[in-house]
Amino acid sequence: EESISVSELSQSMGVKASDLIRKLMQLGTMATINQLIDADTAALLATDFGFTVEKKGFEVEEFIPEVEVDESKLVNRPPVVTVMGHVDHGKTSLLDAIRQADVAAGEAGGITQHIGAYSVQTPKGPITFLDTPGHEAFTAMRERGAKVTDLVVLVVAADDGVMPQTAEAIKHAQAAGVTILVAINKIDKPGATPERVMQQLTEYKLVPEQWGGETIMLPVSARTKQGVPELLEYIALQAEVLDLKSNPETLAAGHVIEAKLEKGRGPVATVLVEEGTLRVGDAIVTGIHYGRVRAMMNERGEQVKEVPPGYPVEVLGLSGVPVAGDEFNIVEDEKAAKEVAAHRAEKARQKELGSVKRATLEDLFAKS
Ligand code: GTP
Ligand code: MG
Repeated sequence: EESISVSELSQSMGVKASDLIRKLMQLGTMATINQLIDADTAALLATDFGFTVEKKGFEVEEFIPEVEVDESKLVNRPPVVTVMGHVDHGKTSLLDAIRQADVAAGEAGGITQHIGAYSVQTPKGPITFLDTPGHEAFTAMRERGAKVTDLVVLVVAADDGVMPQTAEAIKHAQAAGVTILVAINKIDKPGATPERVMQQLTEYKLVPEQWGGETIMLPVSARTKQGVPELLEYIALQAEVLDLKSNPETLAAGHVIEAKLEKGRGPVATVLVEEGTLRVGDAIVTGIHYGRVRAMMNERGEQVKEVPPGYPVEVLGLSGVPVAGDEFNIVEDEKAAKEVAAHRAEKARQKELGSVKRATLEDLFAKS
């Protein structure tokens, strides 16, 4: 047990020893100047004198398990495909068309409500799709250096052409080094000019294969479903080339894709599992929120007990609504999850308070 004498504490805080002794008396402890007091009491005193005491040596990293690099445990995972493009160019419509092509969804009675991430079963295997209204999550993840997506499907409306958010999406994908597949959408429309879109895209270093370049550009229609099976085929082919693998045998980690508060369900987070297997009962922490995974739902609203890498899922049981784009981790137990979350919350609070008088226990115990 760490302890400190009243005089040492008074010196390190710059507070008169007599004031400390008076305070200790108020707390029910009779003390002399040379008396040793324990760390908890010292922290209590320091707080009383306006210091914020933080546990020194608390490293969030200690609680967050390292991703085990073990070649022998790697198994194939589905590609994660982010659909990006200018507002109203048909991202969500195209994803709906893709989901209708999903054999499994057809059996379960079709599409329910909108979710930002889901797995689609194709003849060539499962593909995970992320819808990105506004790209906030994608941008946030990229800014933190996370490479969540394996491929980008860039949706460009054939009647509208390259627009500001199209250019923005290209910039993001190229900066992240992610392969872009272009879906030239709305070709059913009378004013559709796919060649013009292709021409425009060459200005962004995206040259179609047909013109000797490397970028796959497919004319599609989310409305008539023309080109949708081919798009899926190309995605599957690209994924095969990338040979994507993850280790399912560790504690899960990944990112929050979207999150909201739902009546009767509490905070609901759609997460993408990138490493390990996520299980009901796991202790989860993301940003300043934590909890135990109470239940998980797939894109068809079915309860699932475990989720392997490369799949998205809705998670219930968090203490609050997490931030889209934040990382999530599974830790040893709920206590660890809570400690990590509390530590981060305290850090954030202190940052907000700015120039507050601060002392760490270590400072207090440092012998001068
Ligand atoms: P945001 O999420 O708001 O950025 O839009 P979005 O890109 O998801 O577009 P969304 O799928 O909502 O489609 C926008 C409009 O275009 C809707 O009215 C769709 O019905 C229409 N639309 C989408 N795809 C097609 C298509 O292939 N053909 C035609 N004719 N209309 C389409
Ligand atoms: Mg949309």
